[in-house]
Amino acid sequence: METKQITVFGGSGFLGRHAVRALAKAGWRIKVACRHPNRAFFLRPLGQVGQIGFVKCDITEPEQVEAALQGSIAAVNLPGLLFPRGQSFEDVHVTGAGNVAEAAARQGIRKLVHLSAIGADSEAQSRYAQTKAEGEKRVHAALPAAIVLRPSLVFGPEDQFFNKFAGLARISPVLPLIGGGHTRFQPVFVGDVAAAICAALEMPQAQGKTYELGGPTTYSFKELMQLVLREIGRKRILAPLPFALAAFKAFFLQLAPNPLLTLDQVKLLRHDNVVAPTALTLADLGITPTTVEAELPAYLWRFRAKGEYADLVPEKLN
Ligand SMILES: NC(=O)c1ccc[n+]([C@@H]2O[C@H](COP(=O)([O-])OP(=O)(O)OC[C@H]3O[C@@H](n4cnc5c(N)ncnc54)[C@H](OP(=O)(O)O)[C@@H]3O)[C@@H](O)[C@H]2O)c1
Repeated sequence: METKQITVFGGSGFLGRHAVRALAKAGWRIKVACRHPNRAFFLRPLGQVGQIGFVKCDITEPEQVEAALQGSIAAVNLPGLLFPRGQSFEDVHVTGAGNVAEAAARQGIRKLVHLSAIGADSEAQSRYAQTKAEGEKRVHAALPAAIVLRPSLVFGPEDQFFNKFAGLARISPVLPLIGGGHTRFQPVFVGDVAAAICAALEMPQAQGKTYELGGPTTYSFKELMQLVLREIGRKRILAPLPFALAAFKAFFLQLAPNPLLTLDQVKLLRHDNVVAPTALTLADLGITPTTVEAELPAYLWRFRAKGEYADLVPEKLN
């Protein structure tokens, strides 16, 4: 029996590596398409010999997308930017997403899972949120059967949120509570998002639908900072930083190669990032979400003063 082949655009990223592992386990033959395949070879042992292959592809280039989809019966579109570097939000979230959906439609591929984000809204102030919404529209216009997944904050061993703030807490006596730390999040485990991708591909009733993916609990930004500090066994001052002041700081911070904060993120932080009450969710894909508390200890231990063997006494740290 011939194995079914899927192209995973952006398969070398944070979510990509977990999606590739889950898809390989589910029996797919995988073509990982990204701009730097040499940085993706670490994925090879996640499948059987020959199960995971690589193709150089920039989704902003229609011919490269067309070639990357050859021979596949399904695709996952993951590329996304937190801040523009060398390519714009528009390039990746709108033009790139459109290219993938249009090429899939031309090649008769009906199974496409497209990664967007909670908060995608063409009326939003943030360019990230605006372009995510424009991308969804382009994808559905080209391929109405495409499935859109909108995660809240995604957490897992290589995440850019908990790792970043735990790293900051290691060197700084103060952690900023942007906008007072009231913004609410519903962090979702990267393994659950990967499982959602696999489930959506197999469910005919998922075609054309949009799912919002969140974990079992919502937390304020302040509660998330407290969680990080408890987990790494450090006491730090949590200092409220009004949005206006955060924007002023972000104006300069965003010049760094991997900025802690950008102006666009400050705009995003003005709105809660939680699953809408009427949205289809992980439960509709048959997935029970994992808690943050179950996973953080598995990877934040490296930020503890004595690493894995730190003698944590959480009560004393509260
Ligand atoms: N992480 C979160 O908390 C979160 C939350 C909500 C939504 N999302 C969405 O989930 C998706 C995956 O996020 P992630 O955190 O896994 O991102 P990531 O770690 O930054 O990975 C991005 C991937 O896309 C590839 N890529 C970037 N530009 C590309 C281009 N022009 N053409 C082809 N490939 C390109 C990158 O590889 P190369 O650089 O080699 O091309 C990399 O493999 C994104 O759409 C993101 O917006 C993430």
